[in-house]
Amino acid sequence: MCGIVGYVGSDENNTMEVLLDGLSGLEYRGYDSAGVALADNSIDVHKKEGELSALESALPDTTATAQKESVGIGHTRWSTHGPPSDVNAHPHTDADRRVAVVHNGIIENYQTLRDELVDAGVEFRSDTDTEVVPHLIGTYLDAGIDREAAFRRAIDRLEGSYAIAAVFEGSETIYAARKDSPLVLGIGEEGHYLASDVPAFIEYTDRVIYLDDGEFARLTPEDVIVTDSTGTVVETSIETIQWDAEDAGKSGYDHYMLKEIHEQPKALRQCLRGRLDELNGQVELEELGDLSRTGPVQFVACGTSYHAALYGATLLRERGVSAQAFLASEYDAEAIPVGADSMVVGVTQSGETADTMRALREANRAGATTIAVTNVVGSSAARECDYALYIRAGPEIGVAATKTFASQQTALTLLACALTDQGSRNLVRQLRAVPDQIQTVLDTSRAREIAEVYEDADAYFFIGRGYHRPVALEGALKMKEITYKHAEGFASGELKHGPLALVTENTPVFAMVTGDSEQASKTIGNVKEVEARDAPVVAVTDGQSNVGRYADHVLEVPAGDEITSSIVANVQLQLVSYWVANRLGRSIDKPRNLAKSVTVE
Ligand code: F6R
Repeated sequence: MCGIVGYVGSDENNTMEVLLDGLSGLEYRGYDSAGVALADNSIDVHKKEGELSALESALPDTTATAQKESVGIGHTRWSTHGPPSDVNAHPHTDADRRVAVVHNGIIENYQTLRDELVDAGVEFRSDTDTEVVPHLIGTYLDAGIDREAAFRRAIDRLEGSYAIAAVFEGSETIYAARKDSPLVLGIGEEGHYLASDVPAFIEYTDRVIYLDDGEFARLTPEDVIVTDSTGTVVETSIETIQWDAEDAGKSGYDHYMLKEIHEQPKALRQCLRGRLDELNGQVELEELGDLSRTGPVQFVACGTSYHAALYGATLLRERGVSAQAFLASEYDAEAIPVGADSMVVGVTQSGETADTMRALREANRAGATTIAVTNVVGSSAARECDYALYIRAGPEIGVAATKTFASQQTALTLLACALTDQGSRNLVRQLRAVPDQIQTVLDTSRAREIAEVYEDADAYFFIGRGYHRPVALEGALKMKEITYKHAEGFASGELKHGPLALVTENTPVFAMVTGDSEQASKTIGNVKEVEARDAPVVAVTDGQSNVGRYADHVLEVPAGDEITSSIVANVQLQLVSYWVANRLGRSIDKPRNLAKSVTVE
């Protein structure tokens, strides 16, 4: 999704360098063009379709080293209105280049505004919704209104979602506003920053202010002023980010994804820290205060987070709570219905996913108690909900979610214990063991060999029951996302109801079988069904059952209980997908067509 960045500061920093660093820190969000605008006595705009390197090579040398401008904004665009092109790339300006604007979000009434501006004689250059903004500002400037008032007036006309930043010729100020799209301000020694996300400026400062919906910001080299929609100054608090630029780097790994897979033991230790009382077999979640549950629990989430939500709902149901996971895009609080005794849990790594945010807002309007299970402190979901439970995974840059999924599973296990007052010494001990078990998998996995054997497969199937079903779905999602090959995940028992028709000697089936319960033996029955149809079987198992006898290959996981072993088993699947994608030479960290933070519905 689009990313925006802005910097205003002293001569100590090269503005263009800060902006380009910022854009590279936002690349993970996914984009198809990029641009920057520097403001001085005039406005200098450079924008280019394609990767950031295309923009960098299009910059005139003088601009790349120029020190004179101390204010600028930049943008990575993920196309919504109009195809990727130089012209559609941001920033956009008014006809006289008095103002340049970058925008993340969707302006829903842009066609009405565009028609009105065209009738007034404005000529549009791009297909974007964003271009209405600089032209609106331009008309207010023409009417003699000052810059800040013109900016605010233009923003007042917008319907939809936006994080917007604007710079003006002859002004050392950035004006910004947000509604339903993320925007964070950075307070540095050498100036002030703004961005869609902290990695854009973490190498310059770790002190941040999260802007709220409906707020405006004015950034100058000297100060940052936040106001509400009426212009009244808002008291803000500066927060300190708990991770640094190194955490957001690759640390010698070829890909962020591989690094993040390897960071899972650390991520889970962070997630568990201070939350387990081993002596009493209890879970303590400070963030949830005295929260208690009476009615049903609904989870809303998308993609990988939805798989974690399925896992969370299974956990609660096993504990006697009525719980259901919904795809956020399909959630309808009226139809379900949701009431004051309902609890709605939004599971969202970024805390910004538009579908999940809409579902949470609906739940809030219906009077439910809402909880955000998220990785990003101060994110929209954390702000929207009554409570926020942080998964503490640290920054995840690879578009494909890995460590955040394991951290979501872990946090949801904690949540299920806390909501039901049903910890147990055994489960608490098992949770504590998960980071080491994942480390064992990372140290011993044969996933790379399996990838070599099956890189040419026609399709990949994943099966699992109970807690392993979400992992089967997640295994397939990861495989398709980063290898671009067909992959499907199924509840093991569903295979014979249709999907079995797809199974051939060229479609490996990955079966998750841990423990030796009835569930495990039923899945072994399903393994026999595919084996009888000549499909190769890869069992992910802790060796407690005899599934190995029917499998062509085994990926081992340490023995644990079914709940926690699904967290560990998933790591083997992540590694298989990674190595298949690696062998196929795919763009692993930025798969085609995908974005890290999906801020449109
Ligand atoms: C897949 C992936 C996506 C996200 C989904 C929700 O690897 O990352 O499916 O899980 O877009 O994102 P969040 O968790 O930020 O709401």
